[in-house]
Amino acid sequence: MNSAPLEVFTAFAADKWIDDEANYQWRVAARPVGNVVPTDFTWSVTDIPQPSEGEVLLKTHYLGLAPVMRFYMQGTGAAREAVLQPGDVIHGRGVAQVIKSRHPDWHEGEIVQGQMGWQTYKLSKMTEQEKFFRMPQNGLPAALGTGALGMTGLSAHAGLFACGDPKEGDQMVLSGAAGGVGSIVSQIAANVAGCNVIGIAGGPEKCRFILDHGCSQAIDYKSEDIGSNLDERCPQGIDLYFDNVGGETLEACLERLRLGSRVVLCGSISEYTRDPPFKLSNYTRVRATETRMQGFFVYNHLHRWHKVMDELAGWIHEGKLQPIQDVEQGFQHMPRALANLYYGGNVGKQCCSVRGEPTEWL
Ligand SMILES: NC(=O)c1ccc[n+]([C@@H]2O[C@H](COP(=O)([O-])OP(=O)(O)OC[C@H]3O[C@@H](n4cnc5c(N)ncnc54)[C@H](OP(=O)(O)O)[C@@H]3O)[C@@H](O)[C@H]2O)c1
Repeated sequence: MNSAPLEVFTAFAADKWIDDEANYQWRVAARPVGNVVPTDFTWSVTDIPQPSEGEVLLKTHYLGLAPVMRFYMQGTGAAREAVLQPGDVIHGRGVAQVIKSRHPDWHEGEIVQGQMGWQTYKLSKMTEQEKFFRMPQNGLPAALGTGALGMTGLSAHAGLFACGDPKEGDQMVLSGAAGGVGSIVSQIAANVAGCNVIGIAGGPEKCRFILDHGCSQAIDYKSEDIGSNLDERCPQGIDLYFDNVGGETLEACLERLRLGSRVVLCGSISEYTRDPPFKLSNYTRVRATETRMQGFFVYNHLHRWHKVMDELAGWIHEGKLQPIQDVEQGFQHMPRALANLYYGGNVGKQCCSVRGEPTEWL
């Protein structure tokens, strides 16, 4: 893997800062090979655009970071957005405030989340494609729109409930358990669905974290063998495996499936920078165990947005879900925050507070 240390990104951002006098943007400079490096990004400064009839001006406050953004930079992975070319502003969802409106349906002062791009202001027609939603007035911080009350929360909910069909008492295994999606899945699987969750994460600190967030047992895949640990900790096998990482971890879990089990394919981050690609050798276990193995794509679950957001907010209020955001301070550090995902530096949802807004923002 091509892995520039994170300090390189800190140095790269040292001469960059933002204010409210211009629109600051991060654009694609080069297609990433392996993990992102500073030369993959270009910093640009433009005038703050002014809305025409039917448009709004949005001011970005929080931006979410996701592994898929590296694919956007490579010109792939964009769901409903344009395929990025070098020179384009990088795609990314965020939480923003409408500060000027010439649009009949969106009003000044409203807090929204949607496709903002890596920029501090955005002119928008609020099209269907940009998937803007108003942040609900539910007493919870709007900053959660980049995490539990946004696409990350919807991914966790859709993966677990629409695909995983969890049953009380299920022996579940969850990889990427300390990450954005994983830290939500672990808690709602244990505290809402009643599953017994074994979490897999990298390093002792993350393993301690997941034991406090829904997992009853933790496997540190960086220092422990996953297969022998699963044999020891759940000798009867796995009823439900929620996969965030793919690769050898998926293979080890397939090997230990019970009859009638389920596998949810959410992501495969261990394979994203791997060349040549990983080759799964034991998929026939799915046949032998009559397992239902189902992938999902979060954008195909948007029709349930409001219902899912209400449920997630309710679980937060009831103490069943503690949303965890790992906040990078300052828009100039967005490239470092993206690289951090691939170094495993984040605990919970990696996001960026554009102007140093506090986590409890709004
Ligand atoms: N299907 C969908 O619609 C959908 C939607 C959202 C996200 N996803 C996918 O779901 C997964 C989780 O997304 P997220 O946004 O919550 O990201 P995330 O889990 O916060 O991603 C970063 C974490 O991935 C782990 N990781 C990085 N490299 C790894 C490697 N080589 N092997 C194993 N683990 C590695 C690291 O944790 P450790 O320190 O524990 O290694 C890191 O902290 C990703 O694969 C993402 O692409 C899918």
